[in-house]
Amino acid sequence: MKKTRLVSLPNLKEAAKRNPEEKSLVEKVDSKPTSFLVSWGQGKTFCIRTYGCQANVRDSEILRGYLLALGMKEQEEFLGADLILFNTCAIRENAENHLYGELGRAKEAYEKNPETIIGVCGCVMQEEFAVKYILHHFPFVSLIFGTNNLTNFYSLLDDCLEHNENIVDVRSNSDLVPEGLPEGSQARESKVTAFVNIMYGCNKFCTYCIVPFTRGRERSRKAEDILAEVNCLKEQGYKQVTLLGQNVDAYGKDFGDDYAFASLLEKVAQTGIERVRFVTPYPSDFRVEVFDVMAKYKNIMPFLHLPIQSGSNSVLKRMNRRYTREQYLEIVHQLRERLPDVFLSTDIIVGFPNETDEEFEETLSLVREVRYDAAYTFIFSPRPGTPAYFMKDKTPMEVKHKRFDALKALIDEQATARANEFVGKDVEVLFEKVSEKDPSRISGYDPHNKLVHVKGDASLIGQIRKVHITESHTYSLLGELMDED
Ligand code: 5AD
Ligand code: SF4
Repeated sequence: MKKTRLVSLPNLKEAAKRNPEEKSLVEKVDSKPTSFLVSWGQGKTFCIRTYGCQANVRDSEILRGYLLALGMKEQEEFLGADLILFNTCAIRENAENHLYGELGRAKEAYEKNPETIIGVCGCVMQEEFAVKYILHHFPFVSLIFGTNNLTNFYSLLDDCLEHNENIVDVRSNSDLVPEGLPEGSQARESKVTAFVNIMYGCNKFCTYCIVPFTRGRERSRKAEDILAEVNCLKEQGYKQVTLLGQNVDAYGKDFGDDYAFASLLEKVAQTGIERVRFVTPYPSDFRVEVFDVMAKYKNIMPFLHLPIQSGSNSVLKRMNRRYTREQYLEIVHQLRERLPDVFLSTDIIVGFPNETDEEFEETLSLVREVRYDAAYTFIFSPRPGTPAYFMKDKTPMEVKHKRFDALKALIDEQATARANEFVGKDVEVLFEKVSEKDPSRISGYDPHNKLVHVKGDASLIGQIRKVHITESHTYSLLGELMDED
């Protein structure tokens, strides 16, 4: 068995530290590989498994960029790959359990070829108990690194290979904003739509959420770096950018500018890229100026994902969400006043510790009042290290499941009704990929983020075309391609 070098171990307490006075610093990344790595990489293969949210998808694209630059080729299946990376998600327990199942399978790959480099990175690696668990149960894992280590990936890989040792390097907190990470459309998942990080981390500390511990404090990229990336994507033929942040309306607060997101959004729209989207805003930080910008530019899509989490003020308080039901409804009102055609989706957690029937009823009544077009619903999952993990919870799991089903039924009913309103209408669809279920169909999204399928082939990918909607399902629409004008 190889030796394990512990460069740094994660520490959730350290990760939770707030440094309000400290400004974030740009870290220029030198992403040039050593000649040793280049000769090692030639002709070798890699496989990346990504779990979780868009931030992880984007991180995996950066890792893919590093590996492609070594002359490596990507493969879908991890058995037989020379390097396997698991980019993990810690948001709920089941995502973590899934990882341990996959690592069990990866053991097979290692036993077939002990030269295989198996790496685990991402949010789960920011948790000390998870790293200890992996070191104990999966000793064949050669590389463990965290969300703040994307910048030194080459040196980790180099050390692991040259010295033939397992490396653990997880930085708990970072004030750094990396620039100069591997770029290039080759490494991106799509050639049509792209994620652009505008900020990293979260300062909100909702009591159920592990993200502020795994992703560190809020730090924003400079507007000029973001705009350069968007312009470059536009030149490469990208049709859509989605601006990413855990809490995009906090963009620029670390520079002391509370209105920076509205101004950044406007500048991104002015680049003229066909479609602009963004995720995720935090309700009470939202400025109406953002809605004004959305209303002013046609290339900002009329769609907003605005997480509510619960319709009950007492639950919101226990969650440390810094708004009330009434304030949230007022924001929705202000939004719809400016953008009557906007589509709205949300996140809701059911079964937060000691949620009562009455409190849950308030969530149902809020959902009825807002009439969402889509909603992502989750049963509360206790995350070790977060305050809610330590709350004594008397609500039986059975009750939580019943509530979850009732909420899901209401949301599906509303979404179906809203989707029905599309039938007979013409919408503009940006085609992204051939349908996995039926290869004679091609799929894309309309401006409201509605998934649309039509008969067609891959030549439509990247085109924005008018589609006449003929049939609706709860979360997708079917239509016919219209002739170009
Ligand atoms: N349990 C269940 N759902 C959670 N989310 C975040 N943390 C938890 C948790 N511990 C949900 C929230 C968030 C979404 C990304 O995941 O609804 O908005
Ligand atoms: Fe988690 Fe709350 Fe931050 Fe969202 S705003 S990432 S739910 S702590």
